[in-house]
Amino acid sequence: MIFGRREANMFSVDELKAGFKDTFGREPFLVRAPGRVNLIGEHTDYNDGFIMPAALEYETRAAVAPRADRILRVHSAKIGETREFDLDDPAPGPKRDWTDYVFGVAVALAGAGKKLKGADILVASSVPVGSGLSSSAALEVSIGYSLLTVAGLPIDTIELAKLCQKAENEFVGMRCGIMDQFISCNGQHDHALMIDCRSLEKRPVPIDPRARIVVANSMVHHELASGEYNKRRASCEEAVHLLSPGLGPIKALRDVTPAGLEANKALLSDVTYRRARHIVTEDERVIEAADALAAGDLARCGELMNQSHASMRDDYEISCEEVDVLVDIAQRQPGVFGSRMTGGGFGGSTVSLVEAGAAEAFMENVKAAYEKATGLKSTIFACSPQQGVGPLAG
Ligand code: GLA
Repeated sequence: MIFGRREANMFSVDELKAGFKDTFGREPFLVRAPGRVNLIGEHTDYNDGFIMPAALEYETRAAVAPRADRILRVHSAKIGETREFDLDDPAPGPKRDWTDYVFGVAVALAGAGKKLKGADILVASSVPVGSGLSSSAALEVSIGYSLLTVAGLPIDTIELAKLCQKAENEFVGMRCGIMDQFISCNGQHDHALMIDCRSLEKRPVPIDPRARIVVANSMVHHELASGEYNKRRASCEEAVHLLSPGLGPIKALRDVTPAGLEANKALLSDVTYRRARHIVTEDERVIEAADALAAGDLARCGELMNQSHASMRDDYEISCEEVDVLVDIAQRQPGVFGSRMTGGGFGGSTVSLVEAGAAEAFMENVKAAYEKATGLKSTIFACSPQQGVGPLAG
């Protein structure tokens, strides 16, 4: 076995093939599924609203070969562990570890009527866990794609995204929206995608060559994240329920305008009102930011990113001290258009839109200032958006 525990670096195609051969004794095919960064539109996905993510060069890579039986055997290079699962097991329960993202997807695919076959899979990921860059979605999507390929079934990347989300909702117990799985399945090279999470229509928005998207990992991940996430979702559902008598038949906060919310503010407690205000104003910001980015108005796009951060921090209350420090440092650098937290919250990463020529200095300065302020060494990189899941050439 050439794989032991290995952290965030990427395994080369040759290493993956050799590792697979060493572990499972035959030739694999290879699959890749990316993590993501969201430029703007946070927690709007499960409110039927708008988001604007891009797929990253950090990805999960899977080496895969079919088996003659119905066993799914998976080796994680990062954890250094091999686990097995019988596709005929009627009710496998979650184990509260990394395998839930693997077996949960198999259960969701089988539940949707997909006739799966046994497989050996080796997974290696460069998406840092806890970074808010969707390591779990990248793992789920790589597994889903691998299993469908092994079974010789057609792959519809929208259906695959929905089934991976279902795995996370029902098997893992995290009530996430569709964003992470959708962009990992459908990412587009050099573009962000503005996605309407109700219709799942997507509008590719090219990244202006005068700007760089810079991602900075705060290196903190507060454990309350998934419990607080589900609570935010429940607050949004409560707001819809309480606003209905005033606004008529609304299905989700997507159906509420900022003016409609203000007019019916009295129906909500202060906290629920602020949660709803984040969502309804964030939806408007996403739509405007997509237009601004497409029109080359980088300054306006950046302003909207800054406003989004303030709204997450003050109204939705999903930021934390370290992330606020990181955003604050970033927003004060020369050449920055805007900066905000990205992802589910309570730690993780920030995303900044920076003038191309200023990006190198930006990364150095932010890293140094963040370390000085917190003692933490941020990993910072400029990303170039990638295609969604697919075969890995080699
Ligand atoms: C997590 C979830 C997504 C989305 C973001 C917040 O990444 O998986 O569905 O809700 O948080 O925007």
